[in-house]
Amino acid sequence: MGRGNLAPERILRLEAGAVVLLDQRRLPDEEVELRCESAAEVAEAIRTLAVRGAPAIGIAAGYGYALAAERGEDLEEAYRVLEAARPTAVNLVWALEQLRADPTPERARTLHEEEVARCRAMAAHASALFGAGTRALTHCNAGGLATGGYGSAVGALRAAWEEGLLAHVLVDETRPLLQGARLTAWELEALGIPHAVIADAAAAHLMAKGEVDCVVTGADRIAANGDTANKIGTYGLAVAAAHHGIPLYVVAPTSTVDAATPTGAEIPIEERDGAEVTARFHARNPAFDVTPAALIAAIVTEVGVHRAPYESSLPQPVHAA
Ligand code: MRU
Repeated sequence: MGRGNLAPERILRLEAGAVVLLDQRRLPDEEVELRCESAAEVAEAIRTLAVRGAPAIGIAAGYGYALAAERGEDLEEAYRVLEAARPTAVNLVWALEQLRADPTPERARTLHEEEVARCRAMAAHASALFGAGTRALTHCNAGGLATGGYGSAVGALRAAWEEGLLAHVLVDETRPLLQGARLTAWELEALGIPHAVIADAAAAHLMAKGEVDCVVTGADRIAANGDTANKIGTYGLAVAAAHHGIPLYVVAPTSTVDAATPTGAEIPIEERDGAEVTARFHARNPAFDVTPAALIAAIVTEVGVHRAPYESSLPQPVHAA
């Protein structure tokens, strides 16, 4: 498969005896595959961000669990080690629950296909929010790499672009690991969508200059009241967008909706190694923040466009058939 190929099976797949991942730590400079031959190796790949993005880590965990079943691993231990890999994205536990009843390669592959189908449905709903000539801003990477194919926020941008509604995308670089500058820009380049990478700190300035019509992001966990955890910096963007009267849209599948978590205050926030920020001084590194529902103009799932009050408008997560 060639360079820039973002077919779902190129991003991640289950082979005989291994989960194979496109190593996102090496992008965009190198396209290297990583073979994980046990649940513990898949968990390590999730923990170290070889695979990242809420739906993609759910799919990877599903593949890891099916691999563990095939290898005759202790499935309780496999569940535990995969679940513990990262705390904030609820998709990880959701996917493991889907696989628990049917830990087969077929079910894991179907789950992957279903997540990509959800992205396409979300994109179709979300593009209705775009007017002609929209200049959007996005944060982190909520593209095909993050969802196992097509993308959530980037999927929405993609659909709007194909419909002739999108003029340009500003891409936050997304400190400290640069998922925007490395991954989103790489995806937009491959899709031929006009874009410019900006320092995270430039977003409010460009909003004030009238260069942003909407902010579009993904999500790692959406609480029952609509409070939404996403990559650190999203909350600041939401505050700046509200100040400038710019709508912020969250595009995420129902596998990201956590009806069991009442509000954002109960969402566990991952604290990563401070060395990702600076190896020279002591550093704090919260990887996610929570955007209050009141700052979100709409949440788009595969079911449709949902508006406040989210307690009643958000759909329930889908479960295994
Ligand atoms: O730490 P990461 O790179 O896994 O964080 C990812 C994000 O915050 C994404 O915006 C989110 O998972 C949505 S992905 C469709």
